[in-house]
Amino acid sequence: MFSSRAAARQLVRHIKRWQHSSNQPTLNSVTSDDIAHFAQFLPQNSILSTLSPIPVAPSELEQYNTDWMGKYRGSSTTVLRPHTTDQISKIMKWCNQRRIGVVPQGGNTGLVGGSVPTSNELILSLNNMSKVRSFDPVSGALVADAGCILEALTEYITPHNHIMPLDLGAKGSCQIGGNISTNAGGLRLLRYGSLHGSVLGLEVVLPDGTILDNLSTLRKDNTGYDLKQLFIGAEGTLGVVTGVSILTPAAPRAVNNMILALPTFENVLPLFKLARRHLSEILSAFELIDRTAYELAVKHGQGKGLSDEEIEGAQCFVLLETSGGKKEHDEEKLNILLETLLESDSPLINTGVLSQSPAQFSSLWKLREGVTEAVSKEGKAYKYDISIPLASFKEVVDATREQLRRKGLLHENAVKHVLGYGHVGDGNLHLNIVAAAYTPEIEAALEPFVYELVASYKGSISAEHGIGAMKTHAMHYSKSGVAIDLMKRIKHVFDPHGIMNPGKVLE
Ligand code: FAD
Ligand code: MLT
Ligand code: ZN
Repeated sequence: MFSSRAAARQLVRHIKRWQHSSNQPTLNSVTSDDIAHFAQFLPQNSILSTLSPIPVAPSELEQYNTDWMGKYRGSSTTVLRPHTTDQISKIMKWCNQRRIGVVPQGGNTGLVGGSVPTSNELILSLNNMSKVRSFDPVSGALVADAGCILEALTEYITPHNHIMPLDLGAKGSCQIGGNISTNAGGLRLLRYGSLHGSVLGLEVVLPDGTILDNLSTLRKDNTGYDLKQLFIGAEGTLGVVTGVSILTPAAPRAVNNMILALPTFENVLPLFKLARRHLSEILSAFELIDRTAYELAVKHGQGKGLSDEEIEGAQCFVLLETSGGKKEHDEEKLNILLETLLESDSPLINTGVLSQSPAQFSSLWKLREGVTEAVSKEGKAYKYDISIPLASFKEVVDATREQLRRKGLLHENAVKHVLGYGHVGDGNLHLNIVAAAYTPEIEAALEPFVYELVASYKGSISAEHGIGAMKTHAMHYSKSGVAIDLMKRIKHVFDPHGIMNPGKVLE
């Protein structure tokens, strides 16, 4: 008996999930014999297993089985942490023969449940693959193991006056292989483009153990199909990325940023147009934080922004960054923009603050990058990472809040906040719903509501975080049946036994 339509919908979702799991191939669990096999070529400290002769406690595997948000949890008995591509090749060959599911795991900062098992698959951690292989200071081509932490790579190339073409709040934990496997966007995409452009080559271990050595450092190479592109954003469903060749841009000589307080969201679009006109090629980021996101970031100690008087009457904030050749010249451009904005008859902003020191520069960035952490400290977040026309950002946040209000779920014990922030320059909104707990009622109120809303704008249900385990059932809102069918056929070519990250991306 169903007491409400929400409960009925919940059942449909459960049936869909059951159908989903029945579509997955039957896979075998890891046994103690498998562990004995791995011990022939892996050092003892590379095997963490409850099945080992010297077993680890299940609690030691908790950090690998649980995702960053604490929303998705697997029950793997075994984590392998190889040091070389050859070891990974041997692991994959064995798992393929034995039909054991494998979840490649980088920094485990993914936000769609892609990096942890759906059941008891083996976890293949890239943590020990962390060497830089080469760097060419002339071309800027960096070749590194996939397990290198993004921030460590930045530190490696800083003395050569180069920067990584991507930056994100998780830089201290996420790995370059994870970034590539999710096709992470982040805070620099506006300026340096997507990883589909900056990745020059990849080394990948295929599900049967074959090593595809495609670690080219060439800028141009039109010899046949560009296979590396298939692994960028594949979320570990086609192979294990073990090595990366990536083009790093020369570091800008000067960077500046400023925060602007806007009286209304309607001003964001005209402000973006004006900023692009005034700053042209030096504009390197244009990020939105709505009032709720701003207040949560400040509340949870994520950087310092504006004074209480300065934020009065502000509906949202824009963090703008320039990267150029000459500090004074760029500052002058920013000051002219600020004056133009403030002196207009109907100003687009209430106020704006240009950072005056490296500490203030970092503090403003921390405010924006820290929203994710602030949200997770505030409660349990339902995160929707969507591409929609910029003009509809606010409509979507408001409509979602209204939907939750209609369902009687907008109160302290259910949904505490509905907020929006994101990469305006890329048309990417992060719609977050912060709840006291993850509950079926809230999920039923949000889905398919949010996906249908996104589809009505012909948007994308995943702008930069991927599909993972969270959105496999929702892919059709953004992709045609023909496209999904083709993806399934590609998956079958690479992974006929379905051992790579089962239950992720495709149903
Ligand atoms: P994991 O989380 O370990 O894995 C993610 C996926 O990639 C999984 O499906 C996994 O199986 C697969 N994978 C990982 N490594 C490999 C490999 N070597 N070979 C094959 N498959 C692999 N994302 C953005 O796009 N933009 C942002 O601005 C952004 N900011 C973030 C801020 C915070 C605070 C947090 C917590 C997350 C943020 N994310 C962002 C999401 C996340 O950090 C990125 O998706 C990141 O690229 C994931 O890297 P990772 O090493 O942690 O991968
Ligand atoms: C961001 O832009 O801050 C990241 O994508 C993470 C998030 O969506 O919270
Ligand atoms: Zn983002």
